[in-house]
Amino acid sequence: MSLSIQEQVSLRSYNTLAIDVAARFFVAVQSLEQLQAALAWAEQREIAVLLLGGGSNLVLTADLNALVIHLQLRGIQVLSEDADFAQVEVQAGENWHDFVQWSLAQGLSGLENLSLIPGNVGAAPVQNIGAYGAELKDHLDSVLVLDRYTGQIQRLSNEQCQFAYRDSLFKRESGRRVILSVIFKLPKHAALQLDYGHLRSYLAEQQVQQPTAQDVSRAVCAIRAEKLPDPKQLANAGSFFKNPVISAEHAQQLQENYPNIVSFAQADGQVKLAAGWLIEHAGWKGVRQGDAGVHTKQALVLVNYGGASGQQILELAGQIQADIKQRFAVELEIEPNVITG
Ligand code: EPU
Repeated sequence: MSLSIQEQVSLRSYNTLAIDVAARFFVAVQSLEQLQAALAWAEQREIAVLLLGGGSNLVLTADLNALVIHLQLRGIQVLSEDADFAQVEVQAGENWHDFVQWSLAQGLSGLENLSLIPGNVGAAPVQNIGAYGAELKDHLDSVLVLDRYTGQIQRLSNEQCQFAYRDSLFKRESGRRVILSVIFKLPKHAALQLDYGHLRSYLAEQQVQQPTAQDVSRAVCAIRAEKLPDPKQLANAGSFFKNPVISAEHAQQLQENYPNIVSFAQADGQVKLAAGWLIEHAGWKGVRQGDAGVHTKQALVLVNYGGASGQQILELAGQIQADIKQRFAVELEIEPNVITG
C-alpha cells in the first residue's frame, strides 16, 4: 500500500477557525486500507496521530509533531427500506450538509433541522451535533468504527455511543475509535420539529402553510445565515461554549437579578442557560482583540478575523469564562476540541 505522506503541511485550510499551524506529517486517506496503513506507519515510528474530518470543531494551538490523517472516505448507500423508513449508511468523509440535502431529495426526513451545520458526517457523532430542537442521536441507528486499541471494526448501537448534549463516547474516549461510517434510520413520513426558537414564526412569516421537511431545511438555513458566520467568509468553529446547565435554585436567583435571562427547564429539574445571552449581557458581543473576536451577531461564536493564533482565541475565551464566573457564578465549558500539539 503506497501512501503519499507529506511533510510540514499548513493546516490553515483544514480547520474552519483558519488557525495557521503546521503538521509534521500529513496524509489523506480514501479507503479503510489506506487508513490502516497510515495508522501502522505512525505506530512503527511512534508518532502521534490526529484524525481530521471537516475541521469545524477544532482549536489548534501549536504546530503538531504528529501524523495528521485527513479522512476522505466517501459514499452513501441505502442498506434497506420499507414503507416507513430507510436505513442509510454514509461514509465519514461526506460533507454533512450535502448529505442532509441528499436525504431530503430522496424524500427522507429527520435531518432537516440540522441543515447547514459545517463539517463532515464522521465528526457529527463525536459531539452529537444539534440545532433547532433536534440532535443527531434522534435518527442515528449505529456507527461503524475502527477501534485503534484492538484493531477491530465494530458497529456500535445508538445506545452504546452514550450520546448526551454535545457529548458522546467518542468525545469521552477521544482518540480511541476512528469513525468510518454512520448508519441512519430516516423516516419517509416527516414528523417535523418546529418548536425551537423562531422556526414556526419564521415559516408563518414566509406564509408556508403546511411545511414540508424541505421547507424546514430552507428556514433553518435562512435563520442560521442571519446569525452564524459562514466559515468561508469569517473563520469560526460554531458555538465556542456549551450552554451551561445549573441547579433550579441557582437559576431562580439569577432570574431575580436578571429578569430577561434566557433559560430552558430540563427534564431532570435543572435549568439550561443560553450562554450567548450571558456573554452578550456581560458586554462581550462584538469585542475584538487583535484578530480574535466575539461575533457581532451571536456572542457564543468566537471568530478569527485573519491572523489570530489558537492561543489568542483561547486567551479571549479565558477572559470571557472568568468574567461570566464572576458575574453569574456560572462555569462556561469550551465546546470545540482544543488540540495542544
Ligand atoms: N442569545 C443572546 N445573545 C447572543 C446569542 C444568543 O441573547 O448573542 C440568546 C438568544 O436570543 C436566544 C438564546 O440566547 O434566546 C439562544 O440563542 P440561539 O438560538 O442563537 O442558540 P444558542 O443556544 O446560542 C445553540 C447551539 C447552536 C445551534 C443553536 C440553534 C450550543 C452550544 N449551540 O446555540 O449550535 O445552532 O442552538 O439550535 O448548544 C454549535 O454547536 O456549534 C452550534 C452552532
